[in-house]
Amino acid sequence: MPQVTYVAHSGEAHTLDIPVGLSVMEGAVKNSIPGIDADCGGACACATCHVYVDPAWAHALPEQSPTEAQMLEFADGAQPNSRLSCQLKVTPALDGLRVTLPESQ
Ligand code: FES
Repeated sequence: MPQVTYVAHSGEAHTLDIPVGLSVMEGAVKNSIPGIDADCGGACACATCHVYVDPAWAHALPEQSPTEAQMLEFADGAQPNSRLSCQLKVTPALDGLRVTLPESQ
């Protein structure tokens, strides 16, 4: 199972095995990772699943949809490496992925 590391703004890290096919957000919610609220349930409509993706993984991620890009425009603390974790499906290619949560979460 691919491993994903979630790093809180404080620096506290949780590395978890996430089943292929779940989103990075779903992996966090199912494991009660604090800071990923996912208020819209993965509908790309709330941005409470905002994460910063380690730049080393940028090449392995799917392209942003126009809806995701629009949501990120209004997300607190958005950066060039911001993504909505509900839009990132876990695949074997993402084994080792590291995401950091924004301070606002
Ligand atoms: Fe709402 Fe990702 S869970 S945008």
